[in-house]
Amino acid sequence: MYLSDHDGAEQAALALTNHIISRINAFKPTQMKKFVLCLPTGSTPLPVYEELVRRFKLGDVSFEHVITFNLDEYVGLKPCHKQSYAYFMEENLDIPSSQTHLLPSSPIDPHKTHQDSCAAYESLITSLGGIHLLFLGIGENGHVAFNEPASSMSSRTRMVKLDQGTREINARFFGKEQVPTHALTMGIANILEAQEIIVLATGERKSNALKEALEGGINHLCPASVLQMHEKVSIYTDNTAIKGLKESTINYLKSQDPSSSTPRLKDTTDKNKRPFQGRGLLRGTSFSWVSSPSTPIEEDKPLFWSRPPSPSKSLAVDVKVEMIVGQGIHSPLNSPHDDQQQVKIPDKEQKTGIKPQTLLAKDVNSLDQEETQKEADDQGPSV
Ligand code: PGA
Repeated sequence: MYLSDHDGAEQAALALTNHIISRINAFKPTQMKKFVLCLPTGSTPLPVYEELVRRFKLGDVSFEHVITFNLDEYVGLKPCHKQSYAYFMEENLDIPSSQTHLLPSSPIDPHKTHQDSCAAYESLITSLGGIHLLFLGIGENGHVAFNEPASSMSSRTRMVKLDQGTREINARFFGKEQVPTHALTMGIANILEAQEIIVLATGERKSNALKEALEGGINHLCPASVLQMHEKVSIYTDNTAIKGLKESTINYLKSQDPSSSTPRLKDTTDKNKRPFQGRGLLRGTSFSWVSSPSTPIEEDKPLFWSRPPSPSKSLAVDVKVEMIVGQGIHSPLNSPHDDQQQVKIPDKEQKTGIKPQTLLAKDVNSLDQEETQKEADDQGPSV
């Protein structure tokens, strides 16, 4: 773990932005080799997003082959709601919709559940080879994403009840409205699976959580403490957030090399295999799916979507967006600007070379049968 401390929050945010840009540029993403970036919301990352947009405009970084996933989303808020994280991302970092993914505030298909959505989200990440860089904030209660204190260390993407303290803290964004009681969030196990994690924790209100996370033992009552278990974490802070830390802790962590660790994940995308089919830990959900961004399979109903593009601005390309009601790409998320519209983005597709992302339902039983048959074939005749 590496600590990068700065005089102010702004400087810490700029340094973290440089980290993101340098990782994307070093990776040299292409059409066939996407960079998978996981993003937080909240007030702390705002200067990072502002700086990313500025640096994009300067030509320092391209998002053309970057795929983003958000860590969490409130349950029950329409994407057009100003406090939904779908809205937040469009307002603050408008990467084209076909490259942007958010957990749905309500299931896209009324016959499916939140857990189905979570399983599909994980499946899509896995099919892309996992997360290369995960940008994380820390809550005042030590939460990471919406993994509240007492979350299981092995938790995966799921629906959670929000901690009362978190709801009170986030009430500042909601005015007179009630803060939602539940959210969907990536789990702690998902976070730890990222190849690299970068954390922005600034301001005095984060100092207790940071102290618990870095100097307390690994403890599920401070979910951020699990970062101690990851091989490649860089924490960007300002001098108020670290004021509770021991000098020896600060000195030790500052002396670490931010790029020395070996990435944890290998690229699991095997072009010769059929796409990942959403089983494993989440086996038993009521559906399965097939996803492959480079080879979309046109059948059945969509279970997943990309965030609709902003008609006003786009971080990757300046494109004309054509709105089509009642047809177009699979975009069950309602647009922040019009909760009825679906969107087709022909110019954007052409320019970026990325086809809209589609996850497609398949009957789980037929997949199970296929898989069982394949295993039987591989094993040969039984005696
Ligand atoms: P904040 O939220 O940036 O608004 O403090 C961070 C978090 O809760 O993870």
